[in-house]
Amino acid sequence: MTTAAPNDLDAYWMPFTSNRAFKQAPRMVGSAKGMHYYTPEGRALLDAAAGLWCVNTGHGREEIVRAIQEQAAEMDFSPPFQFGHPKAFQLASRLAAMAPGDLNRVFFCNSGSEAVDTALKIALAYWQAKGQGGRTRLIGRVRGYHGVGFGGISVGGMVANRKAFGSLLAGVDHLPTTYNRAEQAFSRGEPEWGAHLADELENLVALHDASTIAAVIVEPMAGSTGALPTPKGYLKRLREICDAYGILLIFDEVITGFGRMGYGFAAERYDVLPDLITFAKGVTAGSVPMGGVLARDGIYDAFMQGPEKAVELFHGYTYSAHPLACAAGLATLDLYAREGLFARALALEPVLADAVHSLRGLPNVLDIRNVGLVAAVDLAPSAAGAGRRGFDAMNHAFHNEDLLLRTAGDTLVMSPALIISEAQIGELIEKIGRTIRAVA
Ligand SMILES: Cc1ncc(COP(=O)(O)O)c(C=O)c1O
Repeated sequence: MTTAAPNDLDAYWMPFTSNRAFKQAPRMVGSAKGMHYYTPEGRALLDAAAGLWCVNTGHGREEIVRAIQEQAAEMDFSPPFQFGHPKAFQLASRLAAMAPGDLNRVFFCNSGSEAVDTALKIALAYWQAKGQGGRTRLIGRVRGYHGVGFGGISVGGMVANRKAFGSLLAGVDHLPTTYNRAEQAFSRGEPEWGAHLADELENLVALHDASTIAAVIVEPMAGSTGALPTPKGYLKRLREICDAYGILLIFDEVITGFGRMGYGFAAERYDVLPDLITFAKGVTAGSVPMGGVLARDGIYDAFMQGPEKAVELFHGYTYSAHPLACAAGLATLDLYAREGLFARALALEPVLADAVHSLRGLPNVLDIRNVGLVAAVDLAPSAAGAGRRGFDAMNHAFHNEDLLLRTAGDTLVMSPALIISEAQIGELIEKIGRTIRAVA
């Protein structure tokens, strides 16, 4: 029974979790439908996080469930190396059609972390194929999150995710974070201040020389570090500098893809065409693990040289383009299109903005941000230490407000499914308001 409470919590080593605290007072969910999770006892929790930034369609959508069930019965697995299955090609074509510009080639993997490592490897191998193998340096950004592979934590900029894991990839450097509370606090949408921070790439070029730099990777909105919208004009400026020095630009759209920013990809919102886009999460609305990389034609073409029977890229995963994930992905894209969910997110952006900014003035609120269907509230750390108030808020929300709330340190983050109603946005903000007071 999926909803039965487990009687032994010892064996499962939970990811990114305070295991001992959880096992003393578990926050357990057993089923989900629409905007809600249900505890094993049947208590409904409003899902403020779309699971973990992924269930953009809302939970338990029949079309996706049916597609997975039918695919499991038809073909469970298909080897992705040297063999193919039709839905992999269909899904790649659909994603290429959805992506802007000539981002027409899709490499599949199983998660955002794998997508990031895949994109970084494609960038390095691309330069080697182009006869510029000296371009090995990768540039990330402070407070960036690019998953937990060694590539991802190397270009990532969250210290807790890096400091325990040795020397990481060599030859990595970082742009500064775009967040500055003194200049940006309580901005609605993209902050006015901060485009000039992209110019720091010029300094890195001056330091390392462009001939050593393969790629720059950034999130169009830094999600996991507490939802930091990029300043107006920043991404355009970054593109211009990359172009000036022939550096590849990678957008990590693991969170920002599939409607979160009101568009298929945030690249459209900002009218900036990156060379590679990483995606995951929303591609299957979280129903089956899947990730991938979209590459521009010129990148793919650079690999399609030499003997035709030779493997062009020595990279891939046993579960790349898994049939269940492809079936789920096709059904998910159908659902997004049929229900106009990306446009719906864009239409709801001002509703969420008005609602969340009404929390200004509550105890300990230091900043409130919003962009797309994302909002965040920074709370002042308590005397007990950084992150404790945030933890208490998450715990309080779960047990006392029937709310599944995601926190990043002392930041409360909202990223509801794109099907949320205006009334549910109101309910969400009321629950958050009571939670903020409760942990004051
Ligand atoms: C921007 C970004 N990249 C990569 C990842 C890693 O994805 P996953 O947890 O599927 O490996 C995440 C996860 O939240 C993310 O937000």
